[in-house]
Amino acid sequence: MSSWLPSLITETPEQGYEMAVKLARVAVKMTQPDDEARSRMRPEYAEDAEALIAVSQVVATHFATVAAANDYWR
Ligand code: HEM
Repeated sequence: MSSWLPSLITETPEQGYEMAVKLARVAVKMTQPDDEARSRMRPEYAEDAEALIAVSQVVATHFATVAAANDYWR
């Protein structure tokens, strides 16, 4: 089976940020595998400023990891 996360290395910071968003989304999907359940809850968080701030924070945490793994693309 091919890995969904073979490496944390990305070419650019922007790709690194996309990876951070992906890491956050995968956690949600692993935690709630039911597509229907996630779709049902989506409109709630999409319209909830606090939830969106929480999303940003989770992504920021992952981005810090990805950036460190890439030596800050120096
Ligand atoms: C869509 C990120 C949490 C359910 C999206 C999209 C992003 C995103 C960027 C837009 C995708 C696009 O339009 O191409 C995240 C992140 C999360 C998070 C970073 C957590 C840190 C959740 C949670 C749920 C959820 C908790 C369910 C309870 C969905 C669903 C869609 C979606 C169903 C698809 C909406 C559609 O295209 O119709 N999410 N999300 N997400 N999210 Fe989340």
